Amino acid sequence: MVPETFKWLDGELVLLDQRAIPWETCFVTCKTYEDVAKAISSMVVRGAPAIGVAAAYGMALASLAGEDMKRARETLLSSRPTAVNLRWALERMDSVIDRSPDDIIAMAQRLHREDLEINRAIGDNGEALVSDGSVILTHCNAGAIATAGWGTALGVIRSCRERGKSVKVYADETRPRLQGGLLTSWELMEDGFDVTVISDGMAAWLMKKVSVDCVIVGADRIAANGDTANKIGTYGLSLAAKAHGVPFYVAAPLSTFDLSLSSGDGIPIEERDGDEVRAPYGKRLLPEDVEVWNPAFDVTPGENVTAIITEVGVLRPPYGVSIAKAIKEI
Ligand code: MRU
Repeated sequence: MVPETFKWLDGELVLLDQRAIPWETCFVTCKTYEDVAKAISSMVVRGAPAIGVAAAYGMALASLAGEDMKRARETLLSSRPTAVNLRWALERMDSVIDRSPDDIIAMAQRLHREDLEINRAIGDNGEALVSDGSVILTHCNAGAIATAGWGTALGVIRSCRERGKSVKVYADETRPRLQGGLLTSWELMEDGFDVTVISDGMAAWLMKKVSVDCVIVGADRIAANGDTANKIGTYGLSLAAKAHGVPFYVAAPLSTFDLSLSSGDGIPIEERDGDEVRAPYGKRLLPEDVEVWNPAFDVTPGENVTAIITEVGVLRPPYGVSIAKAIKEI
């Protein structure tokens, strides 16, 4: 069983420590908003929707402690730059920022509950795109622990099984933090799915040699034209999918859309410490002082995306039109 991503317990936020999965199931308790910001930047909690909900609980902790709420908001907002769900969640919290701690806690709990419902809806909408017996390739982890539960890309896979469809999943290992190799494989194995891990460089060859029916990935920020920021390696995967005629689906909630950006050019891409590449999980693999470039995300052009699966339905190109319509209708 996959444990819950977060729990609000007696005025504290208990987070599943994703850095320890799959070796250990342990938790990090956040007593202050600074603890939450640190948990987000150090990837105790990760995945776009999950960090949004965690930040909302960070605001709840700040209000309980009588902290300066503007300062708490700024600290949480700057904890990671790419996933716009963080800003979205803090904007939702703005509507109660001057209210009592009880009201602020209630709003964070509401975002938590809503995210689970949204993922269920994404799963159900995406399931219709997948036929029984499909082979699905995914990247990074867009599963239950990257959200309040069920998952976005993995939510589609879970919904397939709920409707009686059998699917075979390939998970990209996802260098350098190995979210696919460590988290996606573990989540799917815990739930009894058929999953095989490949290293990132094998994806194009997999498409050539095995009949992959579709790629399904999550997203961290989607611009108004459908350009999609997601874990580094997603762009290359989209190119390989295009070359092999494999449908490339993005599964994401509407909180991942950033209509203030007309294209992906304006999406801030987080660059992380080169030691994540030199010495993954503390094991030095590369020469000590070798130069490393470590962007954590890339941007897949909307033209490479076959469809975007959201809680309100499946959006198709032209995305300028379908995205604007979906956002207007909520
Ligand atoms: O750096 P991470 O692990 O937070 O990156 C996560 C991803 O890129 C996920 O694919 C994305 O946030 C979608 S999670 C439902």
